[in-house]
Amino acid sequence: MSNRTVFQNNENSNPSNRRDFLKRAALFGAAACVPPTVLVSSCTGAERKTTSSKESQNENTMPVITKRRTLGKGSAAMEVSALGFGVMGMNYHRGTHPDEKAMIKLAHEVVERGVTLFDTAETYGPFFNEELAGKALAEFKGKIAVTTKFGFNYAGNKKNEMPAQANSKPERIREMVEASLKRLNIDVIELLYQHRFDPHVPIEDVAGTVKDLIAEGKVKHFGLCEVGAETIRKAHAVQPVTAIQSEYHLMWREVEKEVLPLCGELGIGFVPYSPLNRGFLTGAINEYTSFNSGNDNRNILPRFTPEAIRANLRIVEELNKFGRTRGVTTSQVALGWLLQKAPFIVPIPGTTKLSHLEENLRTLDFTFSAQEWSELEMAVANITIVGDRYPASEQKQVQN
Ligand SMILES: NC(=O)c1ccc[n+]([C@@H]2O[C@H](COP(=O)([O-])OP(=O)(O)OC[C@H]3O[C@@H](n4cnc5c(N)ncnc54)[C@H](OP(=O)(O)O)[C@@H]3O)[C@@H](O)[C@H]2O)c1
Repeated sequence: MSNRTVFQNNENSNPSNRRDFLKRAALFGAAACVPPTVLVSSCTGAERKTTSSKESQNENTMPVITKRRTLGKGSAAMEVSALGFGVMGMNYHRGTHPDEKAMIKLAHEVVERGVTLFDTAETYGPFFNEELAGKALAEFKGKIAVTTKFGFNYAGNKKNEMPAQANSKPERIREMVEASLKRLNIDVIELLYQHRFDPHVPIEDVAGTVKDLIAEGKVKHFGLCEVGAETIRKAHAVQPVTAIQSEYHLMWREVEKEVLPLCGELGIGFVPYSPLNRGFLTGAINEYTSFNSGNDNRNILPRFTPEAIRANLRIVEELNKFGRTRGVTTSQVALGWLLQKAPFIVPIPGTTKLSHLEENLRTLDFTFSAQEWSELEMAVANITIVGDRYPASEQKQVQN
Protein backbone atom coordinates (compact mmCIF):
# COMPACT_ATOMS: atom_id res chain seq x y z
CA MET A 1 0.00 0.00 0.00
CA SER A 2 2.90 2.33 0.75
CA ASN A 3 3.85 3.23 -2.79
CA ARG A 4 0.38 3.36 -4.28
CA THR A 5 -1.60 6.51 -4.74
CA VAL A 6 -5.08 6.25 -3.27
CA PHE A 7 -7.86 8.69 -4.06
CA GLN A 8 -10.86 8.54 -1.79
CA ASN A 9 -13.50 10.98 -0.76
CA ASN A 10 -15.15 11.60 2.51
CA GLU A 11 -18.60 12.69 1.41
CA ASN A 12 -19.64 14.17 4.69
CA SER A 13 -16.46 15.91 5.76
CA ASN A 14 -17.42 19.24 4.20
CA PRO A 15 -20.48 20.91 5.75
CA SER A 16 -21.46 22.56 2.48
CA ASN A 17 -21.37 19.17 0.75
CA ARG A 18 -23.65 17.87 3.42
CA ARG A 19 -26.00 20.79 2.89
CA ASP A 20 -26.05 20.13 -0.84
CA PHE A 21 -26.76 16.48 -0.22
CA LEU A 22 -29.74 17.32 1.95
CA LYS A 23 -31.01 19.76 -0.64
CA ARG A 24 -30.74 17.13 -3.30
CA ALA A 25 -32.37 14.49 -1.15
CA ALA A 26 -35.44 16.70 -0.94
CA LEU A 27 -35.25 17.40 -4.65
CA PHE A 28 -35.10 13.78 -5.65
CA GLY A 29 -37.91 12.86 -3.28
CA ALA A 30 -39.04 9.29 -3.58
CA ALA A 31 -36.03 8.18 -5.58
CA ALA A 32 -33.80 9.25 -2.73
CA CYS A 33 -35.60 6.90 -0.35
CA VAL A 34 -34.40 3.83 -2.18
CA PRO A 35 -31.15 2.58 -0.68
CA PRO A 36 -28.46 1.96 -3.26
CA THR A 37 -27.93 -1.69 -4.02
CA VAL A 38 -24.53 -2.85 -2.96
CA LEU A 39 -22.44 -3.97 -5.86
CA VAL A 40 -21.63 -7.63 -5.75
CA SER A 41 -19.31 -7.94 -8.65
CA SER A 42 -17.84 -10.98 -10.27
CA CYS A 43 -14.63 -8.94 -10.63
CA THR A 44 -11.91 -9.63 -8.12
CA GLY A 45 -8.23 -8.82 -7.87
CA ALA A 46 -7.74 -5.20 -8.75
CA GLU A 47 -11.17 -4.19 -7.52
CA ARG A 48 -12.24 -3.66 -3.95
CA LYS A 49 -14.93 -1.88 -2.03
CA THR A 50 -13.80 0.71 0.47
CA THR A 51 -16.96 1.28 2.46
CA SER A 52 -19.62 -1.06 3.75
CA SER A 53 -23.15 -0.98 2.40
CA LYS A 54 -24.23 0.74 5.61
CA GLU A 55 -21.59 3.43 5.22
CA SER A 56 -22.67 4.07 1.64
CA GLN A 57 -26.27 4.58 2.71
CA ASN A 58 -25.89 8.14 3.90
CA GLU A 59 -28.98 10.10 4.74
CA ASN A 60 -29.94 10.85 1.15
CA THR A 61 -28.87 7.53 -0.40
CA MET A 62 -27.69 9.21 -3.60
CA PRO A 63 -25.53 6.98 -5.78
CA VAL A 64 -22.15 7.37 -4.19
CA ILE A 65 -19.38 5.32 -5.70
CA THR A 66 -17.93 3.00 -3.11
CA LYS A 67 -16.12 0.66 -5.46
CA ARG A 68 -12.47 1.23 -6.17
CA ARG A 69 -10.26 -0.22 -8.87
CA THR A 70 -6.50 -0.19 -9.23
CA LEU A 71 -4.78 0.98 -12.39
CA GLY A 72 -1.23 -0.29 -12.73
CA LYS A 73 0.80 -2.17 -10.17
CA GLY A 74 3.75 -1.77 -7.81
CA SER A 75 5.21 1.73 -7.89
CA ALA A 76 2.86 2.55 -10.82
CA ALA A 77 -0.34 1.61 -8.94
CA MET A 78 -3.11 4.14 -8.60
CA GLU A 79 -6.37 3.41 -6.83
CA VAL A 80 -9.40 5.26 -8.21
CA SER A 81 -13.19 5.06 -8.26
CA ALA A 82 -14.50 2.22 -10.43
CA LEU A 83 -16.04 4.77 -12.81
CA GLY A 84 -14.22 7.94 -13.80
CA PHE A 85 -15.48 11.07 -15.52
CA GLY A 86 -14.58 12.59 -18.89
CA VAL A 87 -14.41 16.37 -18.64
CA MET A 88 -13.98 16.94 -22.39
CA GLY A 89 -17.64 17.21 -23.41
CA MET A 90 -18.35 19.84 -20.76
CA ASN A 91 -17.09 22.45 -23.23
CA TYR A 92 -15.47 20.71 -26.20
CA HIS A 93 -16.42 18.42 -29.08
CA ARG A 94 -19.86 17.39 -27.82
CA GLY A 95 -21.85 20.27 -29.27
CA THR A 96 -23.64 23.03 -27.41
CA HIS A 97 -23.38 22.80 -23.65
CA PRO A 98 -24.46 24.63 -20.49
CA ASP A 99 -22.35 27.60 -19.33
CA GLU A 100 -19.17 27.36 -17.30
CA LYS A 101 -20.86 28.04 -13.98
CA ALA A 102 -23.23 25.11 -14.53
CA MET A 103 -20.36 22.85 -15.56
CA ILE A 104 -18.33 23.73 -12.48
CA LYS A 105 -21.35 22.95 -10.33
CA LEU A 106 -21.81 19.62 -12.08
CA ALA A 107 -18.11 18.77 -11.66
CA HIS A 108 -18.53 19.36 -7.92
CA GLU A 109 -21.49 16.99 -7.94
CA VAL A 110 -19.31 14.37 -9.59
CA VAL A 111 -16.70 14.70 -6.84
CA GLU A 112 -19.36 14.54 -4.15
CA ARG A 113 -20.53 11.25 -5.54
CA GLY A 114 -17.13 9.66 -4.95
CA VAL A 115 -15.65 9.84 -8.44
CA THR A 116 -11.90 10.32 -8.13
CA LEU A 117 -10.68 9.99 -11.74
CA PHE A 118 -11.17 12.95 -14.09
CA ASP A 119 -9.94 13.13 -17.67
CA THR A 120 -8.92 16.11 -19.76
CA ALA A 121 -6.17 16.95 -22.30
CA GLU A 122 -4.16 19.88 -23.55
CA THR A 123 -5.71 19.45 -26.99
CA TYR A 124 -9.31 19.80 -25.78
CA GLY A 125 -9.89 23.38 -26.83
CA PRO A 126 -6.90 23.51 -27.06
CA PHE A 127 -6.37 24.53 -23.45
CA PHE A 128 -9.83 25.66 -22.36
CA ASN A 129 -10.99 22.22 -21.22
CA GLU A 130 -7.97 22.02 -18.91
CA GLU A 131 -8.80 25.54 -17.72
CA LEU A 132 -12.33 24.44 -16.89
CA ALA A 133 -10.96 21.38 -15.04
CA GLY A 134 -8.64 23.72 -13.13
CA LYS A 135 -11.45 26.08 -12.10
CA ALA A 136 -13.76 23.23 -11.13
CA LEU A 137 -11.43 20.71 -9.56
CA ALA A 138 -8.27 22.35 -8.21
CA GLU A 139 -9.86 22.75 -4.80
CA PHE A 140 -9.97 18.94 -4.50
CA LYS A 141 -6.27 18.40 -5.23
CA GLY A 142 -4.80 15.51 -3.31
CA LYS A 143 -8.25 13.90 -3.02
CA ILE A 144 -8.93 13.24 -6.68
CA ALA A 145 -6.82 12.65 -9.78
CA VAL A 146 -7.13 15.02 -12.73
CA THR A 147 -5.38 13.29 -15.61
CA THR A 148 -4.23 15.02 -18.78
CA LYS A 149 -2.39 14.37 -22.05
CA PHE A 150 0.38 15.76 -24.23
CA GLY A 151 1.36 15.01 -27.80
CA PHE A 152 0.67 17.83 -30.24
CA ASN A 153 1.85 21.16 -31.62
CA TYR A 154 -0.42 24.14 -32.00
CA ALA A 155 0.45 26.85 -34.49
CA GLY A 156 -1.20 29.81 -32.82
CA ASN A 157 -2.73 28.62 -29.53
CA LYS A 158 -6.15 29.45 -30.89
CA LYS A 159 -9.53 28.24 -29.69
CA ASN A 160 -10.82 25.22 -31.63
CA GLU A 161 -7.52 24.97 -33.50
CA MET A 162 -6.88 21.42 -34.63
CA PRO A 163 -3.49 20.07 -33.62
CA ALA A 164 -0.94 20.92 -36.31
CA GLN A 165 0.96 17.67 -35.90
CA ALA A 166 2.10 15.12 -33.36
CA ASN A 167 4.92 16.34 -31.16
CA SER A 168 6.23 14.26 -28.28
CA LYS A 169 9.73 15.66 -28.25
CA PRO A 170 11.08 15.84 -24.70
CA GLU A 171 11.19 19.65 -24.71
CA ARG A 172 7.58 19.84 -25.91
CA ILE A 173 6.44 17.40 -23.21
CA ARG A 174 8.17 19.53 -20.57
CA GLU A 175 6.68 22.73 -21.95
CA MET A 176 3.21 21.20 -21.93
CA VAL A 177 3.56 19.89 -18.37
CA GLU A 178 4.51 23.33 -17.03
CA ALA A 179 1.58 24.96 -18.84
CA SER A 180 -0.90 22.24 -17.84
CA LEU A 181 0.10 22.44 -14.19
CA LYS A 182 -0.74 26.15 -14.33
CA ARG A 183 -4.04 25.68 -16.18
CA LEU A 184 -5.10 22.87 -13.88
CA ASN A 185 -3.86 24.84 -10.86
CA ILE A 186 -2.26 21.77 -9.31
CA ASP A 187 1.26 20.91 -8.11
CA VAL A 188 1.57 17.50 -9.71
CA ILE A 189 -0.15 15.69 -12.59
CA GLU A 190 -1.40 12.43 -11.13
CA LEU A 191 -1.46 10.60 -14.46
CA LEU A 192 0.06 11.98 -17.65
CA TYR A 193 -0.73 10.29 -20.97
CA GLN A 194 0.84 10.55 -24.38
CA HIS A 195 -2.29 11.38 -26.42
CA ARG A 196 -1.13 10.01 -29.76
CA PHE A 197 1.98 8.11 -30.80
CA ASP A 198 4.63 10.32 -32.44
CA PRO A 199 6.38 8.40 -35.26
CA HIS A 200 9.34 10.83 -35.06
CA VAL A 201 10.16 10.30 -31.39
CA PRO A 202 11.12 6.84 -30.09
CA ILE A 203 8.70 5.75 -27.38
CA GLU A 204 11.68 5.05 -25.10
CA ASP A 205 12.52 8.77 -25.21
CA VAL A 206 8.94 9.67 -24.37
CA ALA A 207 8.88 7.20 -21.46
CA GLY A 208 12.31 8.44 -20.32
CA THR A 209 11.10 12.06 -20.27
CA VAL A 210 8.05 11.14 -18.20
CA LYS A 211 10.29 9.08 -15.91
CA ASP A 212 12.42 12.21 -15.31
CA LEU A 213 9.30 14.30 -14.68
CA ILE A 214 8.18 11.71 -12.12
CA ALA A 215 11.60 11.91 -10.43
CA GLU A 216 11.27 15.70 -10.36
CA GLY A 217 7.85 15.45 -8.67
CA LYS A 218 5.87 17.08 -11.49
CA VAL A 219 4.08 13.92 -12.58
CA LYS A 220 3.07 10.81 -10.62
CA HIS A 221 2.02 8.20 -13.18
CA PHE A 222 2.49 7.47 -16.89
CA GLY A 223 -0.10 6.46 -19.48
CA LEU A 224 -0.44 6.00 -23.24
CA CYS A 225 -3.39 6.34 -25.62
CA GLU A 226 -4.25 4.28 -28.70
CA VAL A 227 -0.95 2.39 -28.92
CA GLY A 228 -0.22 -1.17 -29.94
CA ALA A 229 1.32 -3.99 -27.92
CA GLU A 230 4.89 -3.43 -29.09
CA THR A 231 4.86 0.23 -28.09
CA ILE A 232 3.41 -0.62 -24.71
CA ARG A 233 6.13 -3.19 -24.02
CA LYS A 234 8.91 -0.78 -25.00
CA ALA A 235 7.52 2.08 -22.92
CA HIS A 236 6.82 -0.12 -19.91
CA ALA A 237 10.43 -1.33 -19.89
CA VAL A 238 11.61 2.27 -19.37
CA GLN A 239 8.87 3.60 -17.08
CA PRO A 240 6.13 1.31 -15.69
CA VAL A 241 2.86 2.27 -17.32
CA THR A 242 -0.18 2.84 -15.10
CA ALA A 243 -2.90 2.90 -17.75
CA ILE A 244 -3.63 2.59 -21.44
CA GLN A 245 -6.48 4.85 -22.57
CA SER A 246 -8.06 3.77 -25.86
CA GLU A 247 -11.49 3.62 -27.41
CA TYR A 248 -13.43 0.57 -26.27
CA HIS A 249 -17.13 -0.25 -26.25
CA LEU A 250 -19.52 -2.70 -27.88
CA MET A 251 -18.97 -1.06 -31.29
CA TRP A 252 -15.15 -0.94 -31.13
CA ARG A 253 -13.41 -3.98 -29.66
CA GLU A 254 -9.99 -3.94 -31.33
CA VAL A 255 -8.17 -3.73 -27.99
CA GLU A 256 -9.41 -7.20 -27.09
CA LYS A 257 -6.99 -8.72 -29.61
CA GLU A 258 -3.67 -7.71 -28.06
CA VAL A 259 -3.84 -4.68 -25.82
CA LEU A 260 -6.17 -5.94 -23.08
CA PRO A 261 -4.39 -9.30 -22.74
CA LEU A 262 -1.09 -7.42 -22.51
CA CYS A 263 -2.48 -5.10 -19.84
CA GLY A 264 -3.49 -8.19 -17.88
CA GLU A 265 -0.03 -9.72 -18.33
CA LEU A 266 1.93 -6.60 -17.34
CA GLY A 267 -0.44 -5.35 -14.65
CA ILE A 268 -1.39 -2.18 -16.53
CA GLY A 269 -4.80 -0.56 -16.07
CA PHE A 270 -7.15 0.17 -18.97
CA VAL A 271 -9.31 3.30 -19.31
CA PRO A 272 -11.87 3.00 -22.13
CA TYR A 273 -12.57 6.40 -23.65
CA SER A 274 -15.87 7.30 -25.31
CA PRO A 275 -17.35 4.29 -23.45
CA LEU A 276 -20.84 5.20 -24.70
CA ASN A 277 -19.53 5.65 -28.23
CA ARG A 278 -19.91 9.43 -27.94
CA GLY A 279 -23.51 9.12 -26.79
CA PHE A 280 -24.63 6.71 -29.52
CA LEU A 281 -25.01 3.70 -27.21
CA THR A 282 -27.28 5.64 -24.86
CA GLY A 283 -30.14 5.64 -27.38
CA ALA A 284 -30.29 9.47 -27.30
CA ILE A 285 -29.08 9.83 -30.90
CA ASN A 286 -31.01 9.19 -34.11
CA GLU A 287 -30.61 10.03 -37.81
CA TYR A 288 -32.13 13.48 -37.28
CA THR A 289 -29.66 14.47 -34.54
CA SER A 290 -27.61 17.46 -35.65
CA PHE A 291 -23.89 17.68 -34.89
CA ASN A 292 -23.32 20.98 -36.62
CA SER A 293 -22.68 23.34 -33.74
CA GLY A 294 -19.08 23.96 -34.83
CA ASN A 295 -17.97 22.28 -31.62
CA ASP A 296 -18.81 18.66 -32.28
CA ASN A 297 -16.39 16.26 -33.92
CA ARG A 298 -19.16 13.73 -34.53
CA ASN A 299 -20.00 15.68 -37.69
CA ILE A 300 -16.87 14.24 -39.33
CA LEU A 301 -17.04 10.72 -37.92
CA PRO A 302 -18.25 8.15 -40.50
CA ARG A 303 -20.34 6.34 -37.87
CA PHE A 304 -22.38 9.50 -37.27
CA THR A 305 -23.75 10.05 -40.77
CA PRO A 306 -27.56 9.68 -40.90
CA GLU A 307 -27.22 6.45 -42.93
CA ALA A 308 -24.75 4.90 -40.47
CA ILE A 309 -26.84 5.95 -37.47
CA ARG A 310 -30.00 4.49 -39.00
CA ALA A 311 -28.28 1.14 -39.61
CA ASN A 312 -26.39 1.02 -36.33
CA LEU A 313 -29.45 1.73 -34.18
CA ARG A 314 -30.07 -2.03 -34.35
CA ILE A 315 -27.21 -2.31 -31.87
CA VAL A 316 -28.81 0.14 -29.47
CA GLU A 317 -32.01 -1.87 -29.72
CA GLU A 318 -30.10 -4.99 -28.59
CA LEU A 319 -28.90 -3.10 -25.51
CA ASN A 320 -32.40 -1.83 -24.95
CA LYS A 321 -33.78 -5.38 -25.23
CA PHE A 322 -31.20 -6.64 -22.73
CA GLY A 323 -31.97 -3.85 -20.28
CA ARG A 324 -35.76 -3.94 -20.56
CA THR A 325 -36.25 -7.24 -18.73
CA ARG A 326 -33.58 -6.37 -16.19
CA GLY A 327 -34.66 -2.85 -15.30
CA VAL A 328 -31.58 -1.06 -16.59
CA THR A 329 -31.06 1.53 -19.31
CA THR A 330 -29.08 1.16 -22.52
CA SER A 331 -26.34 3.45 -21.13
CA GLN A 332 -26.05 1.25 -18.07
CA VAL A 333 -25.86 -1.87 -20.22
CA ALA A 334 -23.04 -0.31 -22.26
CA LEU A 335 -21.05 0.70 -19.18
CA GLY A 336 -21.80 -2.51 -17.28
CA TRP A 337 -20.53 -4.59 -20.18
CA LEU A 338 -17.20 -2.75 -20.03
CA LEU A 339 -16.87 -3.03 -16.26
CA GLN A 340 -17.32 -6.80 -16.25
CA LYS A 341 -14.67 -7.30 -18.92
CA ALA A 342 -11.73 -7.02 -16.49
CA PRO A 343 -11.15 -5.75 -12.95
CA PHE A 344 -8.53 -3.29 -14.16
CA ILE A 345 -10.93 -1.41 -16.47
CA VAL A 346 -12.16 2.06 -15.44
CA PRO A 347 -14.46 3.73 -18.04
CA ILE A 348 -14.66 7.55 -18.18
CA PRO A 349 -18.10 8.53 -19.52
CA GLY A 350 -18.77 12.23 -19.87
CA THR A 351 -21.99 14.18 -19.49
CA THR A 352 -23.33 17.70 -19.06
CA LYS A 353 -26.39 16.54 -17.12
CA LEU A 354 -26.84 15.57 -13.50
CA SER A 355 -29.54 13.06 -14.38
CA HIS A 356 -27.20 11.30 -16.82
CA LEU A 357 -24.45 11.29 -14.21
CA GLU A 358 -26.78 9.59 -11.74
CA GLU A 359 -27.82 7.06 -14.35
CA ASN A 360 -24.24 6.26 -15.30
CA LEU A 361 -23.05 5.90 -11.70
CA ARG A 362 -25.92 3.57 -10.90
CA THR A 363 -24.37 1.11 -13.33
CA LEU A 364 -22.32 0.03 -10.32
CA ASP A 365 -25.50 -1.12 -8.60
CA PHE A 366 -26.02 -4.22 -10.70
CA THR A 367 -24.24 -7.27 -12.03
CA PHE A 368 -25.25 -9.98 -14.44
CA SER A 369 -23.80 -13.39 -15.17
CA ALA A 370 -21.05 -14.04 -17.69
CA GLN A 371 -23.59 -16.05 -19.68
CA GLU A 372 -25.97 -13.10 -19.91
CA TRP A 373 -23.20 -10.75 -21.05
CA SER A 374 -22.00 -13.23 -23.62
CA GLU A 375 -25.51 -13.53 -25.07
CA LEU A 376 -25.62 -9.75 -25.45
CA GLU A 377 -22.19 -9.78 -27.05
CA MET A 378 -23.27 -12.41 -29.56
CA ALA A 379 -26.44 -10.54 -30.44
CA VAL A 380 -24.44 -7.37 -31.12
CA ALA A 381 -21.69 -9.23 -32.99
CA ASN A 382 -24.32 -10.50 -35.45
CA ILE A 383 -25.00 -6.95 -36.60
CA THR A 384 -22.73 -5.45 -39.26
CA ILE A 385 -21.55 -2.05 -38.09
CA VAL A 386 -21.83 0.65 -40.74
CA GLY A 387 -19.17 3.37 -41.01
CA ASP A 388 -15.57 3.59 -39.76
CA ARG A 389 -14.95 4.92 -36.29
CA TYR A 390 -12.56 7.65 -37.52
CA PRO A 391 -11.97 9.38 -40.87
CA ALA A 392 -8.74 8.21 -42.53
CA SER A 393 -6.72 11.23 -41.32
CA GLU A 394 -7.46 10.43 -37.66
CA GLN A 395 -7.23 6.66 -38.07
CA LYS A 396 -3.63 7.18 -39.21
CA GLN A 397 -2.76 8.55 -35.77
CA VAL A 398 -3.77 5.41 -33.90
CA GLN A 399 -2.00 2.06 -33.74
CA ASN A 400 -5.10 -0.13 -33.37
N1 LIG B 1 -7.71 9.59 -25.36
C1 LIG B 1 -8.46 9.97 -26.35
O1 LIG B 1 -8.03 10.01 -27.51
C2 LIG B 1 -9.88 10.37 -26.11
C3 LIG B 1 -10.76 10.57 -27.19
C4 LIG B 1 -12.08 10.93 -26.92
C5 LIG B 1 -12.51 11.07 -25.61
N2 LIG B 1 -11.64 10.89 -24.59
C6 LIG B 1 -12.08 11.02 -23.18
O2 LIG B 1 -13.22 10.20 -22.96
C7 LIG B 1 -14.24 10.96 -22.31
C8 LIG B 1 -15.62 10.46 -22.71
O3 LIG B 1 -15.71 10.42 -24.11
P1 LIG B 1 -16.84 11.08 -25.01
O4 LIG B 1 -17.35 12.32 -24.40
O5 LIG B 1 -16.26 11.08 -26.35
O6 LIG B 1 -17.97 10.00 -25.09
P2 LIG B 1 -18.96 9.20 -24.13
O7 LIG B 1 -18.61 9.37 -22.70
O8 LIG B 1 -19.02 7.86 -24.72
O9 LIG B 1 -20.32 9.94 -24.44
C9 LIG B 1 -20.57 11.24 -24.06
C10 LIG B 1 -21.88 11.66 -24.69
O10 LIG B 1 -22.93 10.82 -24.21
C11 LIG B 1 -23.98 11.58 -23.63
N3 LIG B 1 -24.39 10.85 -22.41
C12 LIG B 1 -23.64 10.49 -21.34
N4 LIG B 1 -24.36 9.78 -20.47
C13 LIG B 1 -25.62 9.69 -20.99
C14 LIG B 1 -26.81 9.08 -20.56
N5 LIG B 1 -26.87 8.41 -19.41
N6 LIG B 1 -27.91 9.18 -21.35
C15 LIG B 1 -27.88 9.86 -22.54
N7 LIG B 1 -26.76 10.46 -23.00
C16 LIG B 1 -25.63 10.38 -22.23
C17 LIG B 1 -23.39 12.93 -23.33
O11 LIG B 1 -24.37 13.91 -23.55
P3 LIG B 1 -25.08 14.66 -22.33
O12 LIG B 1 -24.17 15.78 -21.99
O13 LIG B 1 -26.39 15.07 -22.93
O14 LIG B 1 -25.23 13.66 -21.23
C18 LIG B 1 -22.26 13.06 -24.35
O15 LIG B 1 -22.69 13.69 -25.52
C19 LIG B 1 -13.97 12.39 -22.76
O16 LIG B 1 -14.49 13.32 -21.85
C20 LIG B 1 -12.48 12.43 -22.82
O17 LIG B 1 -11.96 12.75 -21.55
C21 LIG B 1 -10.34 10.53 -24.81
